[in-house]
Amino acid sequence: MVNIILFGPPGSGKGTQSANLINKYGLMHLSTGDLLRSEIGDQTPLGLEAKKFMDQGQLVPDEVVIGMISSKLEANPEARGFIFDGFPRTTAQAEALDKLLTLKKTSIAAVLALEVPEDELIKRLLNRGLTSGRTDDANEDIVKARIVEYHNKTAPVADHYAKYGKFKKIKGSGTVDEIFGLLGKEIDKLVAEKAEKV
Ligand code: AP5
Repeated sequence: MVNIILFGPPGSGKGTQSANLINKYGLMHLSTGDLLRSEIGDQTPLGLEAKKFMDQGQLVPDEVVIGMISSKLEANPEARGFIFDGFPRTTAQAEALDKLLTLKKTSIAAVLALEVPEDELIKRLLNRGLTSGRTDDANEDIVKARIVEYHNKTAPVADHYAKYGKFKKIKGSGTVDEIFGLLGKEIDKLVAEKAEKV
C-alpha cells in the first residue's frame, strides 16, 4: 500500500493533480473538501454545520473530518493506497491519521507539498469562483481568510512529517502536465522502493 498526502494551500492544485494521479497509480482519492461538499449537497446535519465554517474560510472542527476519514478507511479495506487531499490540516488530524493507518498496518509514504506564490493562488481561486458556484471562492476576503487559516493551522503539519523525512516540496506553478510530471517522479520512486521491500 502506498499512501500519499498531497499538501499545499488553497488553490495549489491538490484536487486537480489528485484526479490525474489516481488514474495513473490506481490509488483511492480521499478529499475532505469533496466529502464535506457532498454532505452539504445532501443537506445532512453534518453538512449544514460544516457549511457555517466553510463559508467563512475557516477549518471545520477536527473531530468532524477525522470521523469522516476514519469511516472511509474502514469502508475500503481493499484499496491499494490512498491520496489524501486536504487532510490532515492540523497537527491533531495528522496524529489521528497516523493512528488510523497504524491500525491498518500501514503508514504515510510521503507528503508532497505544492508550492505556489500567494498572488497566483488568489487569482486561481477567484477565477474559479466566477464559474464554480463554490461559496468559499466567492470573494477575495474569504479566499484570503482560507490562506490565513492555512498559514496558522495547516502549515505546521509540515513539521510533523519533516521529522520523519517524509516531507517533500514540489514546484506547484507551471502547467498542470509539468506539475503532474514532478509528482509522478516522486511517486514512481516510492512505488519502486515499496516493490523492492516486498
Ligand atoms: P478544500 O476543498 O480542501 O479546499 P482547499 O484546500 O481550500 O483548496 P481547493 O480545493 O480550493 O484547492 P486545491 O489545492 O485542491 O486546488 P484545485 O486543484 O482545486 O476545503 C474547502 C473547505 O473545507 C476548507 O476551507 C475547510 O473549511 C473545509 N475542510 C476541508 N478539509 C478540511 C480538514 N481536513 N479540516 C478542516 N476543515 C476542512 O485548483 C484550484 C483552481 O486552480 C482550479 O480552478 C484549477 O483549475 C486551477 N489550477 C490548478 N492547477 C493549476 C495550474 N497548474 N495552473 C493554473 N490553474 C490551475
